[in-house]
Amino acid sequence: MGSSPPFSIANNNMCRLPLFIAEKETPGEDGFQERDAMDQEVFIARQEQDLAARIPGVLQQRKDLGLEGLVHGLDSVIISTEPGRLELSAEELLWYTGLTLEAHFEDDSFTTLVLGTKGSASFLLRARKKGENPFDAVNSAQKTRNLPNTRLETFVFRTTGLERYVEIQTERGIRFMTTDITDYPHFRFIQTMPSRYTGNSLGFIEWTGEKGGYAPHDAVQLPHSPKKPDLPHLANIHGLDHAATRVKAIERNDAIIEFMELTTYSFDFAVFVRSLNSITSVARLSSDDFAMVFTSGIAPFRENTDPGPTEMFIRNYGTRVHHIAFQTDRVEDTYNALKKDGLEFLVALVGSEKEGLKQTFSLPSPHTMLVNEYIHRYQGFDGFFTKSNVEMLTRVTGKQ
Ligand SMILES: [Fe+2]
Repeated sequence: MGSSPPFSIANNNMCRLPLFIAEKETPGEDGFQERDAMDQEVFIARQEQDLAARIPGVLQQRKDLGLEGLVHGLDSVIISTEPGRLELSAEELLWYTGLTLEAHFEDDSFTTLVLGTKGSASFLLRARKKGENPFDAVNSAQKTRNLPNTRLETFVFRTTGLERYVEIQTERGIRFMTTDITDYPHFRFIQTMPSRYTGNSLGFIEWTGEKGGYAPHDAVQLPHSPKKPDLPHLANIHGLDHAATRVKAIERNDAIIEFMELTTYSFDFAVFVRSLNSITSVARLSSDDFAMVFTSGIAPFRENTDPGPTEMFIRNYGTRVHHIAFQTDRVEDTYNALKKDGLEFLVALVGSEKEGLKQTFSLPSPHTMLVNEYIHRYQGFDGFFTKSNVEMLTRVTGKQ
């Protein structure tokens, strides 16, 4: 870490709440000017103090309302595509990740492909067949006009006591997409309306039958296609490590607090990159679980100043998930093999074995707009990210 020591805030849930602050960067780099520096320090202080002040209350409220223990880890993610791109989206994930096709079915409302791999949240790729899209408003942005229905829409969490959970959250004013929990052959399910801060929905699933049986009553099974290519390096690519959602600077804390109020996650740490006007904030359930990452600007978008890659991305694509990260072994060989197979990258591998971490970003998918991250943490690395990697990876997303 840099010269600034992490500071700790005691709270009821975690013994520490470190906020890792980026070291001072040189004014003049990347359009970052001296005159902005003071402004930025004010915004940083505001971000930190406001979040630190709000977290203990959320943790206490979760306890008081009886929410603790009802929501667990990530079960699945739902990625919506345009109907003509559904199979292409699946094909791309089959070729460039370790995911395999587990089910393919069609019902009245959707065509769905279920992809999965050991120890990972499942991926439900789906295209709407009819009806209104509740994500219409949040999907619409300058560069998304050709893909108006495309988004990683929903993060689905495993629950026990779904009935109770919905009662408590409804009482708190949370709006769900359906008035009641929906019963499926193997599970019960409900999801929130898209968040005003992230555009994402959170889903809650309670398994009552065979885990992984996502098909509804009226589903018609479709052929198991597209096929998984027989490529040995894909065995090096494992489950979903984290996903990063880009949110507006001014709504970063609201987005984190809202997520904590709806799940059992805790805010873990943040990396500030002043020169790129960027904060990467990480919320976690435990060190073994999927991590939810929020990327935001430090200062809000202003005309005639360089907004940095995060605020610019939101201008172009709206608030949405920017990348999905897969744990990857033998990361150099895997990166080279993926490249040979036609996957293009925003950047070569960043980081080193010495630092404990290597990562890279693919180009955004033409079908889902999602970037794939491949991440390898070397043995003995006890962190989650390194500041230098965060900075390099954030910088290259300015090319999007
Ligand atoms: Fe990431």
